[in-house]
Amino acid sequence: MAFDIDMIKGVYASMGERVDKARELVGRPLTLAEKILYSHLWEGTPTKKFTRGKDYVDFAPDRIACQDATAQMALLQFMQAGKDKVAVPTTVHCDHLIQAKQGAAADLKHANETSSEVFDFLGSVSNKYGIGFWKPGAGIIHQVVLENYAFPGGMMIGTDSHTVNAGGLGMVAIGVGGADAVDVMAGMAWELKFPKLIGVKLTGKLSGWTAPKDVILKVAEILTVKGGTGAIVEYFGPGAISMSCTGKGTICNMGAEIGATTSTFGYDESMERYLRATDREDVADEANKVKEHLTADPEVYANPEQYFDQVIEINLSELMPLLNGPFTPDLATEVGTMREKAEKNGWPLAVEWGLIGSCTNSSYEDLSRASSIAQQALDKKLKTKAEFGINPGSEQVRYTTERDGILEIFEKLDAKIFTNACGPCIGQWARYEDPKNAPKNSIVHSFNRNFAKRADGNPNTHAFVASPEMTAAIAIAGRLDFNPLTDKLINEDGEEVMLDEPTGWELPPKGFEVKDNGYIDPLEDGSGVNVIVAPGSERLQILEPFEPITPASLKGMKLLIKAFGKCTTDHISMAGPWLRYRGHLDNIANNTLIGAVNAYNQKTNFVKNQLTGEYGGVPDTQREYKKAGIKTIVVGDHNYGEGSSREHAAMQPRHLGVAAVLVKSFARIHETNLKKQGMLALTFANENDYDLIQEDDTFNFLDIDQFAPDKPLTLEIVHADGSKDTIKVNHSYNNAQIAWFNEGSALNLIKKENA
Ligand code: F3S
Repeated sequence: MAFDIDMIKGVYASMGERVDKARELVGRPLTLAEKILYSHLWEGTPTKKFTRGKDYVDFAPDRIACQDATAQMALLQFMQAGKDKVAVPTTVHCDHLIQAKQGAAADLKHANETSSEVFDFLGSVSNKYGIGFWKPGAGIIHQVVLENYAFPGGMMIGTDSHTVNAGGLGMVAIGVGGADAVDVMAGMAWELKFPKLIGVKLTGKLSGWTAPKDVILKVAEILTVKGGTGAIVEYFGPGAISMSCTGKGTICNMGAEIGATTSTFGYDESMERYLRATDREDVADEANKVKEHLTADPEVYANPEQYFDQVIEINLSELMPLLNGPFTPDLATEVGTMREKAEKNGWPLAVEWGLIGSCTNSSYEDLSRASSIAQQALDKKLKTKAEFGINPGSEQVRYTTERDGILEIFEKLDAKIFTNACGPCIGQWARYEDPKNAPKNSIVHSFNRNFAKRADGNPNTHAFVASPEMTAAIAIAGRLDFNPLTDKLINEDGEEVMLDEPTGWELPPKGFEVKDNGYIDPLEDGSGVNVIVAPGSERLQILEPFEPITPASLKGMKLLIKAFGKCTTDHISMAGPWLRYRGHLDNIANNTLIGAVNAYNQKTNFVKNQLTGEYGGVPDTQREYKKAGIKTIVVGDHNYGEGSSREHAAMQPRHLGVAAVLVKSFARIHETNLKKQGMLALTFANENDYDLIQEDDTFNFLDIDQFAPDKPLTLEIVHADGSKDTIKVNHSYNNAQIAWFNEGSALNLIKKENA
């Protein structure tokens, strides 16, 4: 099951008809993104035109990919759906839970010891439900997906924001929350607001020290971290065609850093070369047959302003190498101007580490070009001033680069070769004993994110993002302001030397090779497989189906918390050390709403227990109500649940016995997540009614037995002095979502329908 050629043939077989119909409905030539979107509608052949940035549309993705941190709760939920197998080809990749410390072999061994219960669970559940499993050390999810599964014109979702990397092979690939992935695994549609479209025209050609990374660093500077929100970015033009497929992947990958829904490129020869080099001749042959549908209509790229919501043009011939950072990926500095800027801002000029890797830049081409700089250091008798670390993107990349002597070059420069995994990119880097009190310093890396503490937990680490070749040069020079185009270095013999431009191979001249790629095919019939959850595990817990919330329980409810101001999914379910419990609902529920500010005392995690009159933490108080069989309500302000699509933020309150969340307005994904978990997600019909809610109130839903679409519910609020207010609360449930509520959750309904 390296890939499913029949599935791909099926997508291509219907694409022509669907694209033609879409063109007719839209009444104009189509962009590539539109072709992919309209050919993946849940309804099949399009029947109507959608408005960008407005209409919510049901899609039918071709594939799903999950990483080990997010897959735990996604698969625990999927187990509730009562299905024998996933409905759509799915893979799980163990890459986030491996720390970088001593080097690949020791670090992988350590991860297999400390996270074995998670890996065993993911392996067994994958085997049972027909999911491809990539074991620890096999590689980073997005590099592995690009090498094995991505295909031009396809649509994929993944439980990781850098799923967008597969745009490098002409996909529309989008990062989603676990709940969305579970829906698609269980055979349901996936909903997305039809995105806006940003066109990026690339003219000229990369040369010298500039790399694909510099293209996205430039785009990030232009659009900023929010500029791509709600949009698909489509790259085109001669500059796009001249770049390698993995280079395109780098650009699409960091589209996540400008908030873009995803990014993509039209099918071209670089993609065909990559498909053939990665043992997918048949995919390339099939793609060639439908080439015209795998790129925009010619009129679009000739007159992009007419077809995109926004158009940007970048001349690659004029682009300079960039360093973006610190603390944000959109703060760009051309290498030649770094000294002045760093001195002005107090950024340390000495660089302590250069790190090459992450899903963004860990391809064969990346390592080969960076190694050409490393080789020069050896030849010209230079030593790296900074420490140097490498995370190859996959076992296939590692094996091939080892065979071709590339890793040896880095090792001769005393570089540490870490596991084929995320490592320092996700804070899995044992750099310090006590990161919180570690000194101010600068590092350079080829990763995508550089927020404070992201790599090493040290808030004083200034991380700059650069291309792999520039990272290598700066690691050798040990200075942030080193400009390899103009600056000389002094070698061991005291001579002045310069680094020449990087060179490298787009693809391995002797082909890719690997002995054990780390992939485990699931059993054809997994019905006899037992899912492994270690007894007494504190990290994993098999889920129990939620009981439906009865109308009777919606009377006599108590207020758990009236949240004041911003209440994001991080306030509702914090990350940090709690990540450890992502697969254990009861344990992670101990962080429920601990970040929310109590409107009555402006304190976090300090609410009144109406049963005792005492104040305590939110989870503890809620557990008291649960013990007493009393349902509760959470009241909130505007945009409640903004932030991430983390389903834990809905599952935890549900698990603890919260029945309703009543707010001024919701972040839409969180609202849907609450509905999926069988809860009431409600908004004040009159926003000022928020002020009516008192700390000692009791709540009665008066007409929940008439719960119907477009019909507000009536809520009686009984205050401590016996006075009452009766208010209207709105909801956005349709009939299907009301059925979720009646059954206790969307998964309960799927299970019932399956039975
Ligand atoms: Fe892993 Fe970092 Fe990519 S965490 S998936 S390498 S963004």
